Amino acid sequence: MVVLVAGPGDPSRELASSIAETVGGRLIIPVWKRFPDGEHYVRIPEQLNSDRVYVVQTLGPPQNDSLVQAMLLADAALGSGASSVGLIAPYTAYSRQDKRFLPGEPISIKVVLRALSSAGYDELITVEIHKPNTLDWFQGRALNLSPYEYMAGKLDFEGDILVLSPDLGAIERARRLASALDADYDYLVKHRDRVTGEVTMEPKEIPARGKTIILVDDIISTGGTIARATRLLFRQGARKVYALVAHALLVGNALEKLEGSGILRIYAANTVARRKSAILEYIDIGPLIGRSLSV
Ligand code: R5P
Repeated sequence: MVVLVAGPGDPSRELASSIAETVGGRLIIPVWKRFPDGEHYVRIPEQLNSDRVYVVQTLGPPQNDSLVQAMLLADAALGSGASSVGLIAPYTAYSRQDKRFLPGEPISIKVVLRALSSAGYDELITVEIHKPNTLDWFQGRALNLSPYEYMAGKLDFEGDILVLSPDLGAIERARRLASALDADYDYLVKHRDRVTGEVTMEPKEIPARGKTIILVDDIISTGGTIARATRLLFRQGARKVYALVAHALLVGNALEKLEGSGILRIYAANTVARRKSAILEYIDIGPLIGRSLSV
């Protein structure tokens, strides 16, 4: 029987339970504590009888703690008798630093994926990693799930729908979602200052008048991209603006920024710790992940 070991905190525990329910697996909740100096402690309180084990642990904020916890869990599972251990990390930290944008920088995602391999994981299942080809740095089977079509299947949008990506590089996401919704798609033109992080949107003419717009993006971090896009679209006559995202990190004052933008609702997968807001709704992707397990 497949065993799901839940990482601590939100949303790892809920996701592990949802995946266990989907595959009919056994759910184990480890014992956690933190030493006075900040180091993590974990113990799996049951013997694993040569079972195939999946650790379910988001690598979302606080990323560095999440990463260490994931690595400790791999060794704990193998030491408790697991035959092998895979990691279900619905959010993979450091995935946006996938090249040396400026001289002297590290390729952070390469370092992270190699560290997870060394910790003992032979499989990584993640959701919408920033660049799927970076998974080649993981030494084992790696699977990158796209949540958008699954999420759209749980929703009901009304009106004349137009799906938009915030930039040309992400248009494939918009194309796939538009095809699932039988709608049109297009892209906006975004620029980000590599040093300040400031986002600007070019005033590209979009046939937005009277439309229900669905902005699709992998990550909302500071909220700058979606807030600016929403304002631009309302100026161009959009009737309603929604966002569908895989990872709602919502750092700093992102939620306040988005609440003030006029966006109607943000639908996010439950891949990182959840926040509360009238404009935010989470969709459980446990069943989507469960169906992808190699058991
Ligand atoms: C960038 O390449 C990503 O696809 C997102 O558009 C970006 O991470 C969003 O960041 P923010 O919410 O800070 O604008």
